[in-house]
Amino acid sequence: MEVKDFPDGEMYVRVDTGVEGEDCVVIQSTSRPQGRNLFELLAVLETLKDLGAGKVSAVVPYYGYGRQDRRFMEGECITSKVIAEHVQLHCDEFYTVNVHKEAVMDFFRIPAHNLDAAAILGTYFKEMDLEDPIVVGPDMGAEEMAEKVGAILDCDWDCLEKKRLGPGQVEMKPKGVETAGKDIVIVDDIIDSGGTMLTALKTLKAKHASSVSIACIHPVLTGNIITRLYAAGARTVAATDTIPSQISEISVAPLIADALK
Ligand code: R5P
Repeated sequence: MEVKDFPDGEMYVRVDTGVEGEDCVVIQSTSRPQGRNLFELLAVLETLKDLGAGKVSAVVPYYGYGRQDRRFMEGECITSKVIAEHVQLHCDEFYTVNVHKEAVMDFFRIPAHNLDAAAILGTYFKEMDLEDPIVVGPDMGAEEMAEKVGAILDCDWDCLEKKRLGPGQVEMKPKGVETAGKDIVIVDDIIDSGGTMLTALKTLKAKHASSVSIACIHPVLTGNIITRLYAAGARTVAATDTIPSQISEISVAPLIADALK
């Protein structure tokens, strides 16, 4: 692809190879800068179809706007639906990785696949040879992921639960398992502001975990959260490469390649 900007900021897009009759796969996350990346994706998909490509598949490893899957307040735009509606106008099949809300997939009327990278996180930690691991999800939403990663590490898993003690007072604690002296692995789908991960890390450190390693699928990383996680005692902080970042060291390419095959 040749993609550049005109002096006024408009985008120039050119497919610089013959695609007529060819099956094409376009890979583009709708991460920051979301509007630009989304427009680029739409421009490329539309151009491929216009040039007579065969089957066109869109692979969006990180589905930006995936958290706005419904109207939380009257009149709100369901932005994840806007993306689905426009992308499916110009492609035949759609793939994403661990979309934040599964309901987003229902916006597609073409075959749409939500790939699960939990096993890839599990394999990453297995190669770290942790002594006495336990996998912890920072909230109930991460329960399934913690269970899957725990199965790969062949160890216990748990989730932190929030208990409201009173106005402005929240306690977080593991639901069941004993975490003292353990090598804790915290997994979640997204680290954005990192508030969730930081609270989980501090909670487990205070409960005398031997070490705390952190990984997420999508490193959205708003602000300087990586520095803050290390300053709070994280052993490692890693993520997959659905979004490029300084911690995107775990590749989802094999997961996507297998799905496409
Ligand atoms: C919550 O439902 C998600 O799984 C993540 O825990 C959340 O999006 C992380 O956000 P933040 O990093 O801003 O706490």
